[in-house]
Amino acid sequence: MTDAPAILARGLSRRFGDQLAVDGLDLEIAPRSIYGFLGPNGCGKTTTVRMLIGLLTPSAGEITVLGHRLPAEAEQLKRRIGYMTQKFSLYEDLTVLENLRFVASVYGLPPREARARIAELLDIYALERLGPQRAGSMSGGQRQRLSLAAATLHRPPLLFLDEPTSAVDPENRRDFWEHLFDLIDTGATILVSTHYMDEAERCHRLAILEAGHKRAEGSPAELMAAMGAHVLEVEGPNLRRVKSTLTALPEVLSAAQLGSRLRVLVRERIDQPVTWLRALPQARVLTEIAQVRPSLEDVFVTCTGQQTGQPTEPEAGHPTEHEAGPDSATVSEPGRGDTRP
Ligand SMILES: Nc1ncnc2c1ncn2[C@@H]1O[C@H](COP(=O)(O)OP(=O)(O)OP(=O)(O)O)[C@@H](O)[C@H]1O
Ligand SMILES: [Mg+2]
Repeated sequence: MTDAPAILARGLSRRFGDQLAVDGLDLEIAPRSIYGFLGPNGCGKTTTVRMLIGLLTPSAGEITVLGHRLPAEAEQLKRRIGYMTQKFSLYEDLTVLENLRFVASVYGLPPREARARIAELLDIYALERLGPQRAGSMSGGQRQRLSLAAATLHRPPLLFLDEPTSAVDPENRRDFWEHLFDLIDTGATILVSTHYMDEAERCHRLAILEAGHKRAEGSPAELMAAMGAHVLEVEGPNLRRVKSTLTALPEVLSAAQLGSRLRVLVRERIDQPVTWLRALPQARVLTEIAQVRPSLEDVFVTCTGQQTGQPTEPEAGHPTEHEAGPDSATVSEPGRGDTRP
């Protein structure tokens, strides 16, 4: 086994007409890990995945995947990866068994080996009873299990999963992720894209993408520790009004209501955020102010400016790649030629 990165990309960019869908992305993805792309619609997740598997030629940049230089060696890479597309891409008119037999034939598995492998996959992904059912009539969760079975049929060491559980309920999503960790246990590497925080939290490492840029990278715990903002939860009457007055302050990055509480992100430069907030006239009505631990969603809001409705200022003291060190969360520097809303 080697510890060379499974995926290495430098300065990866892709332009569609005037639009730069992916803009100078650097990636280094360790083998035998789950790496996530977390980002909103249109941030470039699918475009990046398609470049990393050799389906789309980059406008600029260098890519090495499992030791193969892309796009030149895309053909050699093909048999060593599995790709679960964002949209269901198996045949809806074929049954579960027919779909898997078809995939086995595409990979040239001899009939006896194909039969054994398909039986094994039906067992692993609880599809035995669904063998004769048409794929088009399966539930969202069943389809995803079939898609994962198909993507792993030829035992690829590297898997690309593009929003694999977008139509799956929480329980099935949890089961799906258990399967992913089983695959890691067999030595596989997985790149998964998502816009669900709970999925992102399960990754070993992740990159937060926005508008084709990497805004932050690290393990979920590192990202939360290096977030560069304080998180307060407050209670009291008229929270909608409190929210609008607080978000008007330059020290407040965002505020979002959760039931009867308001979650307020305050810039890190405020030393004592609870004392600071308590002293504000806008906060006089509040009955409770507490500092709480950051969540991944807070990290996302802080480094993308999503949900705030206002631009995210460059923040003094925001950790940069150099300050954070190689093992820490690396939050890319905001405001460097960024085009934020
Ligand atoms: N073939 C294409 N031609 C033109 N523009 C494209 C093409 N593919 C993607 N884009 C544009 O590139 C940007 C990134 O798209 P991409 O599909 O990579 O986003 P995404 O992060 O996967 O979004 P989603 O979460 O909705 O799947 C979008 O603005 C999209 O419109
Ligand atoms: Mg996509």
